[in-house]
Amino acid sequence: MKTKFRSTLQLLILLLTLPFIIGCGEKSSDVSIIPEPYEFVVNSGQFGINKNTKIIVDSENPKVKAVADYFAEQLNNVSGYSVKITTSSEKNSAKNLIIFTDKHLDSSLGEEGYTLKSDEDKIILTGTPHGLFNGVQTLFQLLPKEIFSSKSVTNIVWSIPSVNIKDTPRFKWRGMHLDVCRHIFPLSFIKKYIDYIAMHKMNTFHWHLTEDQGWRIEIKKYPKLTEIGAWRKGTQVRKTDKDDGVRYGGFYTQDQIREVVKYAEERFVTVVPEIELPGHSVAALTSYPELSCTGGPFEVRTMWGISDDIYCAGNEKTFTFLENVLTEVLELFPSKYIHIGGDEAPKDRWEKCPKCQARIKKEGLKDEHELQSYFIARIEKFINSKGRQIIGWDEILEGGLAPNAAVMSWRGIEGGISAAKQKHNVVMSPTDYCYFDFYEGKPENEPLAIGGFLPLEKVYSYEPIPEELNADEQKYIMGVQANQWTEYIATPELAEYMTLPRLCALAEVAWSPKEKRDLDNFLDKMSVHYGRMYELGINYRWPGLEELNKNNAFINDATVEINSKQKNMEVRYTTDGTEPTQSSLLYTEPFKITETTSLKIREFTPDGQGSPVYESNYVKENPREPLSVITQNKGLNFEYFEFDEQM
Ligand code: ACM
Ligand code: ZN
Repeated sequence: MKTKFRSTLQLLILLLTLPFIIGCGEKSSDVSIIPEPYEFVVNSGQFGINKNTKIIVDSENPKVKAVADYFAEQLNNVSGYSVKITTSSEKNSAKNLIIFTDKHLDSSLGEEGYTLKSDEDKIILTGTPHGLFNGVQTLFQLLPKEIFSSKSVTNIVWSIPSVNIKDTPRFKWRGMHLDVCRHIFPLSFIKKYIDYIAMHKMNTFHWHLTEDQGWRIEIKKYPKLTEIGAWRKGTQVRKTDKDDGVRYGGFYTQDQIREVVKYAEERFVTVVPEIELPGHSVAALTSYPELSCTGGPFEVRTMWGISDDIYCAGNEKTFTFLENVLTEVLELFPSKYIHIGGDEAPKDRWEKCPKCQARIKKEGLKDEHELQSYFIARIEKFINSKGRQIIGWDEILEGGLAPNAAVMSWRGIEGGISAAKQKHNVVMSPTDYCYFDFYEGKPENEPLAIGGFLPLEKVYSYEPIPEELNADEQKYIMGVQANQWTEYIATPELAEYMTLPRLCALAEVAWSPKEKRDLDNFLDKMSVHYGRMYELGINYRWPGLEELNKNNAFINDATVEINSKQKNMEVRYTTDGTEPTQSSLLYTEPFKITETTSLKIREFTPDGQGSPVYESNYVKENPREPLSVITQNKGLNFEYFEFDEQM
């Protein structure tokens, strides 16, 4: 009796929860929003877009209309419809409406949050302009992936599931950095990069514009910065001490910079320029040697190495120069924060420079670290006088933090912890989780990278709030950012490969509530998101089968086991050297081989998009001979790729 009752209860529970379980399953396959929203419910029914659909702008703010235009333009370009935007008041009666409104805002969702309600009759998107823009990104992700195409796509039902979404970001700084100095990228790519940021509801583009290896921003008062400083005689060949001897360079004119800032502004992305000081400045010193301690010649040791040459801190001309440069920079960039670098400034020159030593004495400074703090504090005072703030790499903590400076913690999290405890704002960007120039897979399978190892799931696992901080101190963590240094990234294609999909993982770290982060669910959603990136033409990296060894050896037999890091993929393979297609052998479970076999393996998303082809060779070895291949494989060791000596 008891047993029976229990099983009836179990049955009841099962019946009650079944729709929920099925619902969840549907949700994860039908709705894949990255980053995961704060709160959302999927209901039954769909909103279908057709030639009669109208967009209503219920707002007096032209920026709301601009966001609606942005949405309509993409929708119309791809769907071939000409969905009209009106401000008429028919919204309450009519059906088939997409409404953009900034009325009746839910203030708990903040400046960047939004609500999105859709049913069979209407879609209502509510928010500030920035919130609405974020809502539009969600709307795009609720539509079929073809909405991301640059071509017109016919024969598609343009529908949106009924949802009720309330969304707001966890962190206010959600950034991506790009170094355009080691290698420069065309303006068209800078805009794409901003698109990738905006599409993932991130809001900051940190533009690293000056370096030892090149000065990339036109400064009218100092034309030599771009006549001389933007060009180098050659580029280091891989990690050797050879130089290719090919003149390399380029820069962005002020008009181009204005164009980028405007483009970003339209996508609610703030461009934070970085003007490096006092180190990483050989390009500027080569242009104006009088700003250095020695007068030159200067040495740029390697792509990644740190030059001893830095701005002279004892020379007033240095500060006049930097203030003039920054004056032009401030006119171009309306951002609250200006990044002043501050990292890796060797003190050798200052130790030997009479002017720098005189400055130390005159200002009563203890040492060269305090001289660096003096330098940064002077620049801060200038920038503060113009109503802006400085942010710098965590080395600006050494010798004492400038009074109002924000810190970008990159050499780990300690700098961030220390700054937050001193009540200074912080952006977390530690190498271990946020350096997208690190290898993403086995170096033997990857393009040359600086070092390290940062796979997708490790980015996803990052928690930006250090445990060491109490609740009050945690408030100083403004957010998180990933950095893309380009010593070994010479093309837009490779920059995309190194940036995506890691950016998608970071976006979720930066936006989604901590308790909503779930790697399984994220990977599930990624199997849909790859399709969007494919439509966008992004050369993203496919992180599926990287655990495969290219070379394996065996004596009697071997078991082939293929583990994909992705979810929902179909793995297919061939043994005849041909490229696997969707009709090749399907891998379902580990299988045995007894002869030398060359496998070509590929996986496919549920909608048929194919990954790159992976190779895995199994070589049958004669037991009397040395196991050369095995030995080779054992030699593969990530530790070998340490980056210490290189950064
Ligand atoms: C840095 O990576 N040197 C900030
Ligand atoms: Zn000096």
